[in-house]
Amino acid sequence: MLHALAIPVFCIATWVTALNDPSSDLPRFGKPSLNNLTVSVGREAIFTCIVEALGPYKVAWLRVDTQTILTISNHVITKNHRIAVTHIGHRTWALHIKDTRQTDSGWYMCQVNTDPMSSIVGFLEVVVPPDILDYPTSTDMVVREGSNVTLRCAATGTPEPTVTWRRETGGTISLSNWHEAASSVEGPELEITRITRLHMGPYLCIASNGVPPTVSKRILLTVHFQPMVWIENQLVGAYEGQSLTLECHSEAHPSPITYWTRPTNETIANDENYKVETIPKKSYEMTMKLVIKSVRVQDFGSFRCVATNSLGETDGRIKLYKIDKPTTRRPGTRRESKKTWKIDHSHEKKAAGMKDEPMLKGDDIDDEQIDFQSATASSAFHRHLLTNFGITAITVILVGGLST
Ligand SMILES: *[C@@H]1O[C@H](CO)[C@@H](O)[C@H](O)[C@H]1NC(C)=O
Ligand SMILES: *[C@@H]1O[C@H](CO)[C@@H](O)[C@H](O)[C@H]1NC(C)=O
Ligand SMILES: *[C@@H]1O[C@H](CO)[C@@H](O)[C@H](O)[C@H]1NC(C)=O
Repeated sequence: MLHALAIPVFCIATWVTALNDPSSDLPRFGKPSLNNLTVSVGREAIFTCIVEALGPYKVAWLRVDTQTILTISNHVITKNHRIAVTHIGHRTWALHIKDTRQTDSGWYMCQVNTDPMSSIVGFLEVVVPPDILDYPTSTDMVVREGSNVTLRCAATGTPEPTVTWRRETGGTISLSNWHEAASSVEGPELEITRITRLHMGPYLCIASNGVPPTVSKRILLTVHFQPMVWIENQLVGAYEGQSLTLECHSEAHPSPITYWTRPTNETIANDENYKVETIPKKSYEMTMKLVIKSVRVQDFGSFRCVATNSLGETDGRIKLYKIDKPTTRRPGTRRESKKTWKIDHSHEKKAAGMKDEPMLKGDDIDDEQIDFQSATASSAFHRHLLTNFGITAITVILVGGLST
């Protein structure tokens, strides 16, 4: 009996027609026919087989690829405890596969022991939601600027998941050069050549295969680089007693230790005349400020702002030169000369790509006292610096003391 059921699995095609002929006395398969099933792993799969006019015959369920008989009539034949059969009404036989596993995927057959056998088949697909394996998926990384990095994301699941990389904060990922920036990148590996500070931040690898839930892992990429310092105004004229603020901008990661030195090369501490401030900006940017409450004779000379981290030290110089204290002028001559100065000044600033911010504060400035030689030197320097402040230029050596 069991053998009779099992053997003719592959030679029934011509008999299905006869079985489905309503005029025949033989049993026939009813509608709906056996379905294909897709279930998530762990869920129950239920195939239903409808047979009209069964008569004295019996309905069996088989697993096609192993030629295993699972059930006959109301009896479970297999030793697999996850298999059950139910008979609903007169004509419906249901095969239950509980707690499905991936190995349950395959063809299943509903067979009637007519002579020869009649059968229909359905496919069970057990799908598995995506998962991201801890290994070899990358963990948080710390790299030097200029190096090459590969972030890996090992995802499993059925069907095989696709992996997508995004920046957690949004924005684009540039892989190897500045023309290839995309908001997302597909593939299990994210390869970035010549890393820059702009690559720093959290990345997400997202695995999805159409089976919920989609999963993601966050990988923090930290980029280390030597401090870089730049200065807008390298030459600053001031008179004794004037109060002013010197500024340096710095980029560094890890965060640098910063300090200022005065013309005697001594490190400046906050006191009644100096106030040192650092104002953090973006993650690796900051502005260093030195407030001089009242300029004294010993302040004329070069101040240095210094930024140091584990990768090195960089400094910038600001030269403070003496100008005469502005005097009050006759109102008649003042307007014209001031206008001339302003035009020249903004021209210089624009050429250097700088903000239009007067070097000297206050209205009462004698135009003769503006050192155009110095202003030009400063602008030229700044152009030079902007040109060299490329992505790959990690170290900018600042030229101090442009004119003495
Ligand atoms: C079941 O899937 C197979 C291929 O996997 C397909 O040929 C067949 O038509 C499907 N049957 C139904 C009822 O969808
Ligand atoms: C990084 O990758 C580029 C391009 O593949 C290669 O030219 C360069 O030598 C690599 N740099 C390092 C440090 O491996
Ligand atoms: C300060 O140091 C620089 C070199 O860093 C040197 O050229 C200069 O003479 C020093 N100034 C004083 C006053 O020591």
